[in-house]
Amino acid sequence: MRKLTIEELLSRVGYSAKAIKLYMDKVNVGSIENPDVALTYTGLPCGDTITIYLKLGKNWTIQDAKFEYKGCVGTACSGSALTMLVAGKTVKDAWNITAEDVLKELNGLPERHCAELAVNALHKALEKLEERNRTKT
Ligand code: FES
Repeated sequence: MRKLTIEELLSRVGYSAKAIKLYMDKVNVGSIENPDVALTYTGLPCGDTITIYLKLGKNWTIQDAKFEYKGCVGTACSGSALTMLVAGKTVKDAWNITAEDVLKELNGLPERHCAELAVNALHKALEKLEERNRTKT
């Protein structure tokens, strides 16, 4: 019997073609040198961890966003979708990104909390960024 490919396996457990492509292409996986903020967040219930890196441009616009992760495929493709969604947005607009937006971008996920993990990590990173800015002024 033929072995299933990773793509076929992921499709069978409920990942969309888009989510699988982001995962296989490792979209935005990595770090940013001298980011404006880097934040590591561990979520529940799995203990999967994601680190978000953001680089700002003019007027607090997110110029570049990358992530590293330790965890499931859902965390990986949520990180890719999230970093795609935040790129080009102002910090203020990035606050409005929700787990629903990430799920929509991925055409759904087998586990919703993977998207929540990524969005929670983003919100913690934005909080850190704003907090640092407040103490500077
Ligand atoms: Fe728990 Fe993805 S973070 S299954």
